[in-house]
Amino acid sequence: APPAIIAPSILSANFANLGHDCSKKIEQGADWLHVDIMDGHFVPNMTIGCPVVSQIRGCVDRPSEPCGRGTFDCHMMIMEPHKWVREFKNAGCDLYCFHYEAAVSSVAATEPADKETTARTSPKQLIKYIHEEGMQAGIAIKPDTPVDVLWDIVESEDPAERPDMVLVMTVHPGFGGQKFMASELPKVAALRERYPDLNIEVDGGLGLGTIDQAADAGANVIVAGSAVFGAQDPADVIAKLREAVQK
Ligand code: DX5
Ligand code: ZN
Repeated sequence: APPAIIAPSILSANFANLGHDCSKKIEQGADWLHVDIMDGHFVPNMTIGCPVVSQIRGCVDRPSEPCGRGTFDCHMMIMEPHKWVREFKNAGCDLYCFHYEAAVSSVAATEPADKETTARTSPKQLIKYIHEEGMQAGIAIKPDTPVDVLWDIVESEDPAERPDMVLVMTVHPGFGGQKFMASELPKVAALRERYPDLNIEVDGGLGLGTIDQAADAGANVIVAGSAVFGAQDPADVIAKLREAVQK
């Protein structure tokens, strides 16, 4: 499997101290920052938008290579994810991870006028558009979505339409601090069996009590919000999460 990547979710940071909290987590050994974007429609909660992302970008060094330290992993829990690709690129997002459920539009585009319009029509087109805009692309599935919908996308004939990462949600998206759903791990195992080199991210309820199950299933990108930000010693938790994935 690819290397372990630990991505603290800044949803559990102190938002009055966000820049400091973000740079601190990188100092404490985090690889990426997981930035949860919620629009109050796709999920019943709202968080931050581009202006805030762009300001915290100024507090954390840019990654020197794709997937490198300091990567901003933006988890887009929003409707119409094609509409925000350029803005998030400009704000400093490195990996734009949209939800499959939000990208499957019931409206078929007629005579697409531009790339953004085309990107509305299918997850594959959206991935291609994200790549053209210079970011890595991730695709996320909620607990109610079967993993099978991803095969055709991950195995797309055109490499530009293939995601760099798949995110399997292990809670219903919307809030930090929820209980881990082990029921989602067979999806991770099925993905890992098919794709030995794919970055597979898990998000929701991950901590020292649940990491072993997720790692055994094959996850290598670990999001942890409350478990890292709520810890007495976040550096120790980050190190232990990493060890659990690597062993
Ligand atoms: C939930 C978010 C998660 C959340 C994880 O909708 O996508 O990233 O912050 O928080 P914990 O690790 O506390 O479950
Ligand atoms: Zn998330």
